[in-house]
Amino acid sequence: MDVRVLGVPMDLGADRRGVDMGPSAIRYAGLADQLEAIGTSCTDGGDISVPRPEERDPDAAGFDGGRAKFHRETREVCTDVRDAVSRAVDSGETPLVLGGDHSIAIGSVAGAAASEESLGVVWFDAHGDFNTPATTPSGNIHGMALSAVLGHAAFGGEGWGHVPAVREENVALVGLRDVDDKERELLRESDVAVYTMSDIDARGVPAVTEEALGRATEGTDGLHVSLDLDWLDPTEAPGVGTPVRGGVSYREAHSAMEAVADHRDRLCSLDLVEVNPILDDHNQTAELACELAASAFGKRVL
Ligand code: ARG
Ligand code: MN
Ligand code: MN
Ligand code: MN
Repeated sequence: MDVRVLGVPMDLGADRRGVDMGPSAIRYAGLADQLEAIGTSCTDGGDISVPRPEERDPDAAGFDGGRAKFHRETREVCTDVRDAVSRAVDSGETPLVLGGDHSIAIGSVAGAAASEESLGVVWFDAHGDFNTPATTPSGNIHGMALSAVLGHAAFGGEGWGHVPAVREENVALVGLRDVDDKERELLRESDVAVYTMSDIDARGVPAVTEEALGRATEGTDGLHVSLDLDWLDPTEAPGVGTPVRGGVSYREAHSAMEAVADHRDRLCSLDLVEVNPILDDHNQTAELACELAASAFGKRVL
């Protein structure tokens, strides 16, 4: 497996500054060494450039029907992410996209889907990321990323962000525990398979993850995994912008990534997002992100 690391120091889609340092923190935690230790070749493609929020007005380009802060800049960045991811996939590499806030997944999913007829997505997250500009309580695009991919949230441009190769039936959201009222309605109306923390309590991570991966791989050509580190409990992953108590444990997270590794013949690309070293405890969340990537790419004890 040839991994290409792409950093996206993006924080335009989230309120708190600091996730823009995620790519550095994850590299500093030893990502390349950990991947090479499991026999994965690892090329660092550097960072995609992101405008600084201080130099922009979040509402410079407003539009009817709601709010999506920095939507113009987000579109520019995500277009670059899409192109870099699809180039890597076309040359037989597996892109590992380091966020940055979760809005960057609009670009990575589009890039992964560019060369596939159909793409399944597993979205590990405490949140639904299913708001639209009309329902968002914050105006933050990271809370709308999944709905953008599925064509429910367009930011000032007709259908922008929609990835038709991704069908709702092939999307699974795993670990949900914090959802806004209108967002809940949108999720209920959708065909996305939603596995809440209650499902994980009742059935366990292995069963839930296997079913989610089954949804995403059944009848599709490729698989994209988007891992928001706030999926884990904040005791394990304190360095995230929007922590929510009651997440999965260290061991459960590894178990889920090992299940991803079982499907790695189909795995197109992986995102590691929302790491915020400013809020972290000795870079432990970035270190965890590296370890989880290694598990997803096939690390085993024996
Ligand atoms: N639901 C909230 C919002 O839409 C929080 C979203 C958090 N998303 C994330 N990718 N961390 O603003
Ligand atoms: Mn998210
Ligand atoms: Mn989240
Ligand atoms: Mn669609």
